[in-house]
Amino acid sequence: MCSTRIPCGGCAAEFRTEFGTRYPNSRVAYASKAFVNPAIARIVAEEGLGLDVVSGGELAVARAADVPPDTIYFHGNNKTPEELEFALDYGIGQIVVDSFHELEVLDAIAGERGVRQDIMLRLSPGIDAHTHEKTTTGILDSKFGFSIETGDAAKAIRQAMSAANLDLVGIHFHLGSPIFELEPYELGVEVVLNYLTQFKEEGLRLEIFSPGGGFAIGYVRSEPPPQIAEYAESITKYTSRLCEELGFGTPLLVVEPGRSIVGRAGVALYTVGGIKDIPTVRKYVSLDGGMGDNIRPAIYGSEYEAVLASRMSAPPAEVVTLAGKYCESGDVLVKDITMPVVEPGDIIAIPSSGAYAPSMASNYNLNGRPAIVMAKDGDARLIRRRETYADMMMADVF
Ligand code: LLP
Repeated sequence: MCSTRIPCGGCAAEFRTEFGTRYPNSRVAYASKAFVNPAIARIVAEEGLGLDVVSGGELAVARAADVPPDTIYFHGNNKTPEELEFALDYGIGQIVVDSFHELEVLDAIAGERGVRQDIMLRLSPGIDAHTHEKTTTGILDSKFGFSIETGDAAKAIRQAMSAANLDLVGIHFHLGSPIFELEPYELGVEVVLNYLTQFKEEGLRLEIFSPGGGFAIGYVRSEPPPQIAEYAESITKYTSRLCEELGFGTPLLVVEPGRSIVGRAGVALYTVGGIKDIPTVRKYVSLDGGMGDNIRPAIYGSEYEAVLASRMSAPPAEVVTLAGKYCESGDVLVKDITMPVVEPGDIIAIPSSGAYAPSMASNYNLNGRPAIVMAKDGDARLIRRRETYADMMMADVF
């Protein structure tokens, strides 16, 4: 179990060990969408992880950080032709194809370049992972993946196997995020592997098998997630047993954690400004950030803990609501939390802010996005400076 809570290295090593010892032919591919910049991508490569990217932008960061292209998996339900060309030119390992249109466009682009491209197909197994409806992806009514239920998956597998310039080498599915249960993974592995047996005689090669990511982290004390070891135990046990029973050998098992690598490593720090007390109703404590640096409470109703970092030993005293500085009433980071008496100038820390908060940050109200500092063993390093007014006008044309 991770005890260090240091950026990246701790959880990355834990993932590598927990999966690697149970299933040696495995690869942990960090899901960049949780948060990536060149400094993070470099650590990912140094830690021996692969990388899951979903856009040309994430791929450009990977290239800037010299991430070996053969360890990159390119996801997304609507990769543009330009992004696919970029991926082919960079020589990336796997493109995870997500639509019939993409199969055709990619086949043509590979043909024009006179290359063969390894691909995987993303299947949708029709499994509900019981997470937020906006981040559920493995059910029938989803924009992602070829549905097993509708017959699209069979059609896509056959089309991919007969594509002139593509080599179908693996199958992927991803059920959603965050997933607090183990059963959906077990069911997913079972449903997908059983489904694939019918294509063996037609020549399907299952060199790579991926049940995606989605591993949960602790945001609030009342909702503890499974340990990484428990996810690893479930996934590797089901994959090994079924692959053996069904004659698939030992495909490379690729897992794609994002949140569970960087989530707990990130602590967001805010300075308290104005405080508004509405007697018998609510006390609002306004912070110098908010939905621009963490949109998750506003769009998913996500819950967080918070502590008074500037006076850690102050006793709990009152229930307050931590509001952001953006021009929306919905800009509340933590509703009704018991805190010590808070004063303007205090620093409030919100743990578990490392994943998706920085990567989904915006310039709403033209507030600059915050600086990001990496800290370990008493050393600190700036990996993204605070955005300036000039930064925010950089792409604008007068
Ligand atoms: N692989 C695929 C194909 C994915 O779509 C995702 C997440 C992951 C891996 C990584 O999932 P993770 O291990 O980080 O849970 N914005 C939402 C989360 C959206 C996740 C999208 N896909 C949030 O803030 O909770």
